[in-house]
Amino acid sequence: MSGKNCKVAVLISGSGSNLQALLTASNKTEAPFSVCKVISNRPEAYGLARAAEAGVPTSVVDHHDFSSREAFDRALIEAIDRQSPDLVVLAGFMRILTPEFVRHYRGRLLNIHPSLLPKYQGLHTHRRALQAGDSEHGATVHFVTEELDGGPPIVQATVPVQAGDTPETLASRVQVQEHAIYPLAVTWFAEHRLHMRGERALLDDTLLPHSGIRLTG
Ligand code: GAR
Repeated sequence: MSGKNCKVAVLISGSGSNLQALLTASNKTEAPFSVCKVISNRPEAYGLARAAEAGVPTSVVDHHDFSSREAFDRALIEAIDRQSPDLVVLAGFMRILTPEFVRHYRGRLLNIHPSLLPKYQGLHTHRRALQAGDSEHGATVHFVTEELDGGPPIVQATVPVQAGDTPETLASRVQVQEHAIYPLAVTWFAEHRLHMRGERALLDDTLLPHSGIRLTG
């Protein structure tokens, strides 16, 4: 891989603001990656319009059309592999993936999760951080393994929780940080600086801490 030769497939379910951050980053002259395909499990996902606007091919693999998770994931793999991407990026893709899918892309499958993992795996992360009285919250980019939201963290961005925050205000501040750390992690991968070895992430051949690299937003 050199130049923009790292081909990235992005999987979405909704708004696609993280997809937009990746598209914008990939348009910079020096970007080492390009988005080769955007796939949504929801036909109405706004991210599909963002991709079309950027001239990136899209497809919909609607989970309602399949009788099992396994059949859906097989169709997803087919749609992704048609493009032979180097990296698969989950950007607000709200489906639980089968172990077969995860194994197929092991070491080249990234996710962004709206919490400081290992805190708040699963849903409603902003509400849970507020309910717990946390003073900081954030987002994590991690390699995907078979454990849901449990793969090795690469980079985390923290934001302070402010008095009067609601799940919505907190989510919007966290998202600003998401849009910075996802392109950063994808760039590291495209530059061959980021790898997964066993259950750990390595950057420049150095094992990353269990929380990944922490950036303060
Ligand atoms: C993002 O905040 C992302 O962290 C979250 O969904 C949102 C998608 O927004 N992902 C998860 O909750 C995954 N468990 P976007 O469609 O605007 O990028």
